[in-house]
Amino acid sequence: MTTLTKEAGAPVPAGEGAFLSVRDLHVSFRTEDGVVRAVDGLSFDLERGSTLGIVGESGSGKSVTNLTILGLHNPMFTTVEGEILLDGKELTTARESELEKLRGNKVAMIFQDPLTALSPYYTVGRQIAEPYMKHMRASKKAAWERAVEMLGKVGIPNPRQRAKDYPHQFSGGMRQRAMIAMALVCDPDLLIADEPTTALDVTVQAQILDLLKDLQQEFGSAIIFITHDLGVIADMADDIMVMYAGRAAERGSVAEVLRAPQHPYTWGLLNSMPRLDSDPHAPLAPIPGTPPSLLRPPSGCRFHPRCTFQDRVGGNRCVNEVPLLGPDRSSACHLTAEQKRTIFIEEIKPRLG
Ligand SMILES: Nc1ncnc2c1ncn2[C@@H]1O[C@H](COP(=O)(O)OP(=O)(O)OP(=O)(O)O)[C@@H](O)[C@H]1O
Ligand SMILES: [Mg+2]
Repeated sequence: MTTLTKEAGAPVPAGEGAFLSVRDLHVSFRTEDGVVRAVDGLSFDLERGSTLGIVGESGSGKSVTNLTILGLHNPMFTTVEGEILLDGKELTTARESELEKLRGNKVAMIFQDPLTALSPYYTVGRQIAEPYMKHMRASKKAAWERAVEMLGKVGIPNPRQRAKDYPHQFSGGMRQRAMIAMALVCDPDLLIADEPTTALDVTVQAQILDLLKDLQQEFGSAIIFITHDLGVIADMADDIMVMYAGRAAERGSVAEVLRAPQHPYTWGLLNSMPRLDSDPHAPLAPIPGTPPSLLRPPSGCRFHPRCTFQDRVGGNRCVNEVPLLGPDRSSACHLTAEQKRTIFIEEIKPRLG
């Protein structure tokens, strides 16, 4: 493999502070039914070259958070508050023209469904070449060569020929690879992958995940990896953030969080996850209840209506008081550190087998 590097003279990465730093982010949408508070006070950091996995049930705000980083929301209906610092640059107040320059160049996104990113009307090669021409000011010929090279890198056989195909001539797994090629063509510093493999069968999924790991090694991009699957996180990520109803429930390194999870919601997620080594007929235990409406979210801890540990906190604190997330390794739950530890070891872990 040839090594692709940034153009000469690219600025040296800032030595201090995280590459991406999100602080007290609030995102709300005005709708006919009222205001949807989709993200409510979210903070996290991401270092250059490392991978953050974000997990959480449907509707927990994973996609909204990441679309907000890219500035892909309709300002007419959306209110964004807080800070998003990317390489020292504040994005929430950036002009659309600046964000436009950033997208595809410094930050790129791959989606669950490649057809949302690929147009049916242009060849795959042209669609990969286009952002390269635009952001790197490359000639048409150089950009086409680059597209062919990228298709080869993501494992498309006979890339020179296949670059001339339209997306419908590609299989699902190949389209996913083409979208990854498109996302990486400008060597982005941050790649946001929003459930990039859920639509694929298990073998292709494993290939795509390996590919992303290889490409990260080569390009050194930071990755935000969004998924429902804790197994995928364990495989891909350095750090993990568990989201519930627009807030971070728990955060830490993958090893810490998966070995000693501290939040009742994370316990529920682990308990509802199928395991390859256990009896395939053993019933899974879904978390009782459903995620709350974000039009009228529960008071205090947003997870309290579904949580079976409120009694142990006592004093109605879970209903009345928002639990805060500390810096680094921490969980937003009113149980004491000692309670979190012993409940997990004595009551949760034995059930996980
Ligand atoms: N444009 C919008 N207008 C109103 N509500 C929205 C809008 N976009 C998202 N929402 C709401 O914001 C909440 C968070 O949505 P989001 O798409 O971030 O969830 P998610 O965690 O990505 O879920 P999934 O796992 O299903 O992809 C949901 O309640 C959703 O209905
Ligand atoms: Mg989503």
